[in-house]
Amino acid sequence: MSDDRKRAAAEAALERIRPLLDSNTVLGVGTGSTADHFIDGLAKLRHAFDGAVASSRATEERLRGHGIPVLDLNAVGPLPLYVDGADETTREGFLIKGGGGALTREKIVAEASERFLCIVDERKLVGRLGAFPLPVEVVPMARSLVARWFAGVGGLPEPREGFVTDNGFGILDVAELDLTDAAAFEARAEQVPGVLTCGLFCRRGADEVFCAGPGGVEHIDCG
Ligand code: 5RP
Repeated sequence: MSDDRKRAAAEAALERIRPLLDSNTVLGVGTGSTADHFIDGLAKLRHAFDGAVASSRATEERLRGHGIPVLDLNAVGPLPLYVDGADETTREGFLIKGGGGALTREKIVAEASERFLCIVDERKLVGRLGAFPLPVEVVPMARSLVARWFAGVGGLPEPREGFVTDNGFGILDVAELDLTDAAAFEARAEQVPGVLTCGLFCRRGADEVFCAGPGGVEHIDCG
């Protein structure tokens, strides 16, 4: 059920971008099971665009597996479009990301992109962020320091055991945070020494959300 909805959201995003592609287009491509559906569908449009910038090694491998050229972000200009999933989204396009641990590269590719299309199933559409524990990528030697900071602001930080990011760092998953002002929280958390990236995407959130539910896919323009 959920997988069918993830596929439906991905297909809606593919329909949205199809008329925008040309032989010079380089797409930003996200990470996770919903993004995987998008990549699989993208394979059919392979000859309609130039290539893709991947937000993780896993995505890079999947793109290459479909014969889609993977380009270095440093070798291309701004990307017109980025398509990725999320763990939570609001209607204004504020997100929690990083359930798959790719948050830093995702934030970089989102920042490099002119439009961010987020693809989710309806369980992820929330009125307020924070039921999903916030992933935070941390420099390993600062894990305890950063955990104490998050505990000090009311969170319950848990190291993601045995997980190493593509950047060689660790993840803390922080539950119970009050994210009423998520944009301000993102700015504060990313000032803590040892935090590489926090999984809030508010400063650069989604521009459009494709949310698949029982009645079809809702297209939300985040304004
Ligand atoms: C990876 C992410 C993913 O977009 C997020 O975890 C959603 O994953 P899925 O589509 O598998 O539910 O942020 O870092």
